[in-house]
Formats: sequence, structure tokens, C-alpha cells
Amino acid sequence: MKHWRKLLGMGLGLGLFAGMAALGTGAGAQTHDYWPGREAARPHVSGDEGLTNTYRFWKDEDAVRRAKAAGMQSRDVNFKDFRWLEKSFDALLLVDKGKEVFHQKNARGESCASCHGTDGAKLVGTYAQLPKYNERLKRVVVGPTQIATCAQERLGQNWPENTKNNSLLDLYVAWLSDGKTVAIDVTSAGPMRDAYEKGRDLFFKRTGHFHFACASCHTPPTTQLFLRGQRPSGYYGDAAHYPLYHFPFRLPGDDLDDIFTMQHQIKSCQTLSRMRQGREGSPSMTAIEVFLKASANGYKMSIPTQQYNMDTNYLSNR
Ligand code: HEC
Ligand code: HEC
Repeated sequence: MKHWRKLLGMGLGLGLFAGMAALGTGAGAQTHDYWPGREAARPHVSGDEGLTNTYRFWKDEDAVRRAKAAGMQSRDVNFKDFRWLEKSFDALLLVDKGKEVFHQKNARGESCASCHGTDGAKLVGTYAQLPKYNERLKRVVVGPTQIATCAQERLGQNWPENTKNNSLLDLYVAWLSDGKTVAIDVTSAGPMRDAYEKGRDLFFKRTGHFHFACASCHTPPTTQLFLRGQRPSGYYGDAAHYPLYHFPFRLPGDDLDDIFTMQHQIKSCQTLSRMRQGREGSPSMTAIEVFLKASANGYKMSIPTQQYNMDTNYLSNR
């Protein structure tokens, strides 16, 4: 574990140098606030045609299979092959653990299932529409925040965001939407559209120690190239696979059964890119997730999947 952290750290350092050399536009890099491409962002997965232009190779499972058969590499299909073709058995065990927590009774004999049905029957499909505006809380919530609120207020369970039970429940509830099409409405005026625009702006805004934006790595020309010992993917479609099984990489102090919720993934990138880390579930972190999830609109949820594995991700040039 320690060894890998060190390697990753080196990867980050070297990657950043290489990245700055490749991306640096001299003085220009210091003067603009936003990384280019913000205006071209679209709340639909096909927006990738104007970004990495690889959408046709990964738009569904058949497309991925055809691309692989034609000899294309993982990076050419934006790594969606791991999501479609290598569903994780280990992650299924975590789905089972999440299911146990879902049915775990409190002192009054109540559980999540008391309201949402045995085996989450009434939550089937709902995760494809999260994050959403919660009328009662008067704010937009991500899955982990909704779960934390239900747990605290209705069951008296202290399962806040970024804890093990919360992450297991997030995975379980998301799994109930496996195969459902992501549909986040950010076109009608209202809090969801506001959150999308705020999240998009945060994604393209340069910040932090290295004056990078999320987009510095997750849009061309950087996308799919080797950076930080990894290859960052384009931002379209990825959110349809979250939360995911993220073995063996953890952030220091993690005790989350190797589940990365989207909130945790965002924080991981902030940490590794030396940006200020947001609090998971906060309005600005939620806004970034709204932006990413809406960028997966029209794409099918695929849960549970895994971060592509060590062999192909860190050790080779695939
Ligand atoms: C006493 C009933 C009750 C219990 C128990 C309960 N919830 Fe809820 N849940 C609700 C209600 C009501 C809503 C609608 C939104 C709100 O009021 O916050 C909701 C909303 C949700 C949603 C969003 C559904 C959607 O359509 O977007 C999820 C996910 C969810 N709950 C998960 C859980 C989980 C996980 C647990 C166990 C920790 C749980 N809930 C426990 C009543 C409950
Ligand atoms: C220094 C480069 C860099 C920056 C800046 C960066 N990331 Fe990442 N990000 C990566 C790498 C490398 C990965 C791992 C490869 C991958 O999955 O794309 C990654 C992974 C991700 C993933 C998971 C993609 C997937 O398919 O599982 C998401 C989502 C993400 N980043 C969002 C963000 C957000 C939001 C920000 C800004 C807060 C950000 N990133 C900033 C390099 C970066």
C-alpha cells in the first residue's frame, strides 16, 4: 500500500511537470481564469463528439465490443470497456453488504426498507435522476446527502457522507438503477440548472497550487494521454458508473470499503491536483456532481464497476 502511494505521488509529480510542459502556453496560462471549452459543454453524453470525439466507440456495450474487436485500446474507448466488459465480482460482494445495511433495523425495529420497500423496491431507477432538488430541504442533494438525511432524521442513524455505511448504501441504491438511463433535467430554469452552471464553471475554473482546472486534465489535449501515472478520461459519461469499486487506491484515512462515491472521486482529484478540498455533500461539491452527472444524460447506468485495474492503468501504456 505504502509503496503504491509513493509511486502515485511520484506519478503526480512527474505527470505535472510533463503536463505543464505540454500544456503551458507561457504567460497566457497565467492570465485567463477559465480553461477553454466551458461554452461548448452540453448536458448530454453525445456532447463528447465535440470533445474527445470518441463517443461512437463507447456509446453502448455493442460499440465497445466492436471497437475492441477492431483492435482499439482502452484509452481509445475512453476506458468504458472496463465498465461494460469487466463488471467486478468483488464489487458485487459490496452491493450485498449495502443491502444488509439497508435492511439493518434500529432500536425501534425500523430500517430503510420500512419506507422504501424490501430490497429497495420503491427506489428502483431513482439513482439515474440523482442529484435532484429536495423540496423539503430546499436544496439540491447528491445520493450520499439524501441517504445521510434519511438515516439521521428518520432512523436516528449517524451515517454522514464519507462514512462506510453511507458509501455502502450509496452503492446499493445506485445498483438498483443499473441499466437505467441517466436523466438529469438541467434545461428548465430552477435550482438544478443553477447547480449545473455553477458546477460547470467550477470544473473549468483554474485554481489551487498549480493553477489547474479540472478541465486542464479532463479535456483535450490532455485527455487520454499519460499524466500523473494515469490517463485522464473525457468528462462525458463517467458519472453513469458511480459510485464505483476503487481498489486498491485510497485517500489517507479512508475506511469506505474501497467504494468511491462521485463526491469522493472529486475530492480525490482535488487532493492529487493540490486544489482546496471541498466537504463532501457541500453545495459546491454537489454542483460539480450535477455537472458531471448531467454530462452522462442519455447514457445507461452501469453499476457495480471498478476503476480500471493496476495492470492496464498504472503499469502499461494501454
Ligand atoms: C420514515 C421513512 C423513511 C425512511 C426510514 C428512509 N427514508 Fe429515504 N426517503 C423518505 C422520503 C419521504 C423521501 C423523499 C425526500 C425527502 O423527504 O427527503 C426519501 C428519499 C430517499 C431517496 C431519494 C429518492 C428519490 O426518488 O430521489 C433515497 C435514495 C433514500 N430516501 C434512501 C434512503 C435510505 C438509504 C434509507 C436508510 C438509511 C432511507 N432512505 C430511510 C422516507 C424515508
Ligand atoms: C492533474 C490532472 C487532474 C486534474 C486537475 C483533475 N483530475 Fe480528475 N482524474 C485525473 C486522473 C489521472 C484520473 C484517473 C483516470 C480517469 O479515470 O480519468 C482522474 C479521474 C477522475 C474521475 C473519474 C473518471 C472515471 O471514469 O472514473 C472524475 C469524475 C474526475 N477525475 C473528476 C475531476 C474533477 C471534478 C476535477 C476538479 C476538481 C478533476 N478531476 C481534476 C486527473 C486529474
